[in-house]
Amino acid sequence: MDPTTRANRLVWEDASQKYVNEYDEFRNQAATGSSLLDAERELLRDVLRDAPAVVHLQSGHGLEDAALVHAGASSVVGVDFSAVAAGAAQRRAAELGVACRYVVAAVPQVPLADASADLVYTGKGALNWMPDLAAWSREVGRLLRPSGQLFIYEAHPAVPLWTWDTDRPRIRPDRSYFDRSHVNDTFPANGAVEWQWTLGQIVTTLIGAGMEILHLREYPEPFWRAGGVTAAAWEGQLPNAFSLLARRR
Ligand SMILES: C[S@@+](CC[C@H](N)C(=O)[O-])C[C@H]1O[C@@H](n2cnc3c(N)ncnc32)[C@H](O)[C@@H]1O
Repeated sequence: MDPTTRANRLVWEDASQKYVNEYDEFRNQAATGSSLLDAERELLRDVLRDAPAVVHLQSGHGLEDAALVHAGASSVVGVDFSAVAAGAAQRRAAELGVACRYVVAAVPQVPLADASADLVYTGKGALNWMPDLAAWSREVGRLLRPSGQLFIYEAHPAVPLWTWDTDRPRIRPDRSYFDRSHVNDTFPANGAVEWQWTLGQIVTTLIGAGMEILHLREYPEPFWRAGGVTAAAWEGQLPNAFSLLARRR
């Protein structure tokens, strides 16, 4: 593990404690299956019809995993380097009786067999923690069986540029869309180094790893709003999320 990822892991162990404290609230959310967004359900409908074995990279507290099983997945294996997050996810899965198990490991060195996934699911704050997108793409390709699919629902790469001003959207003068990284100065991973990948880099890197892009869409709504904040940049004028579906050739 490189030094930045090692430092980020400590930040995430700490940040993940918050969700352990809110365990009951999240268990109820997981139980209702409401953790998947409508757009995710729509895009995953066909692949979930075939009862896929899912690998969820950077699964965190695994909130989407029970919903994926309810929606048709035969199983979900979550992979996250936070033992706090994975432990809470495993406890919740056992309580809910869903076929989800959790592995504590750093992505992209995932200790799962080649071609073990019909679907790799990831996002909602995942790619920004990957210092080497080419290595990540190769790992996704290794985990997928031929014709298996990758699904990403992720913060748009432009999001680090937006201020949280409420009167009108503004661009942070201290950031660039083309920066390599920046330091997170908000919740939940305050102090951690986030890596930046442009949409072009994400698509081109996946193609380079042998993936066929089936779908790419940008959305004005963020997938997550920090508690109590209503930034003008999130109100419809700017891209705040994207979804991508790709197939291993
Ligand atoms: C913003 S959370 C997203 C979690 C999940 N997708 C969700 O929506 O609940 C990011 C997660 O990535 C994990 N993470 C960050 N870098 C990682 C790495 N290199 N390997 C494994 N997990 C990592 C963190 O521990 C954290 O749980």
